[in-house]
Amino acid sequence: MKKVTASAPGKLMLFGEHSVVYGHPCLVTAVDQRLSVTVERNGENIFELDAPDLGLKSYSKHVSDLGKKQLPQAVRFIETLYKIFLEKYPQKESVHVITKSDFSANFGFGSSSASTVAFAKAISVLYGQKLDKRELFDLCYQVVIEVQGVGSGFDLAAAIWGGTLYYVPPAEKVENIKLPKLSIVVGYTGVKADTPTLVRMVQNLKVDHPKKVNQVFNDITRLVGVARHELTKQKWSQVGKLMTENHQLLKKLQVSSRELEKLTKASLQAGAYGAKLSGAGGGDCMIAVVNDKTRDKVATAIEKAGGQIMTVKTQAQGVNVVHSEK
Ligand code: MEV
Repeated sequence: MKKVTASAPGKLMLFGEHSVVYGHPCLVTAVDQRLSVTVERNGENIFELDAPDLGLKSYSKHVSDLGKKQLPQAVRFIETLYKIFLEKYPQKESVHVITKSDFSANFGFGSSSASTVAFAKAISVLYGQKLDKRELFDLCYQVVIEVQGVGSGFDLAAAIWGGTLYYVPPAEKVENIKLPKLSIVVGYTGVKADTPTLVRMVQNLKVDHPKKVNQVFNDITRLVGVARHELTKQKWSQVGKLMTENHQLLKKLQVSSRELEKLTKASLQAGAYGAKLSGAGGGDCMIAVVNDKTRDKVATAIEKAGGQIMTVKTQAQGVNVVHSEK
């Protein structure tokens, strides 16, 4: 191949954030806010990258220098992946890479994981290296751990497999739970959360209060199991109750914020079945479970409370090749 474009979806955590980092299960859905990556052979030994949505233009580096020196935030995942890929599967010719995002990196929809997965898919097809989903996951997960040091890989799984997943890290279990629909509203707090920092905060809390934190993780795990069942049955009032319970447990981990509290409370007052923060906490997005009657009221309440409604289609398709040229 000469040129390949692959596209991967973002994600929205439904249940089980933080405890999933410690081997517990979570429920995640892929969202149709996609990130696409185009790779084209450039006939040189120079790696070139344009990521305008991530604030980076005309970045280039000799292939022998990949991964060396401090990497700009926007390229860390892609450059590290390319370095690891070339170590495993050496190539004669490098690439020019262009990324394009449907969504801002601020929302917490997983722009790093989506770009890592889309890039991995695109180069594997470009270089004719067949990788199945599990191999793609292992390659991308190695990158996340090298760049970030922490992470459960749930976001990579959502970007690779798509749909709604019951996930046990690191891809020990990836079960697609087919749901007719997901009756939720998503609100953005306006605050960008820093996931690795929040994960480390919980890590420190666990060192200081191991019994309390392990109890919270076990309680969340129980909720995830019940929620899977209720989601499958499309019992929204039950799903909502479980979300609110999950949120209360996350508050015990001290990862909620003033903005998240405002938006979740406003949703409940407007008649949502339940609401919780989604993701690492500290900002990013929250979700509320609604029905057709309460959807608009809840959305208006979230906006009045200072949030921004994100219109997302859930259960999006996993990574795919959207264009290729021989
Ligand atoms: C962040 O979106 C979710 C966390 O559980 C981190 C992770 O699973 O990698 C906090």
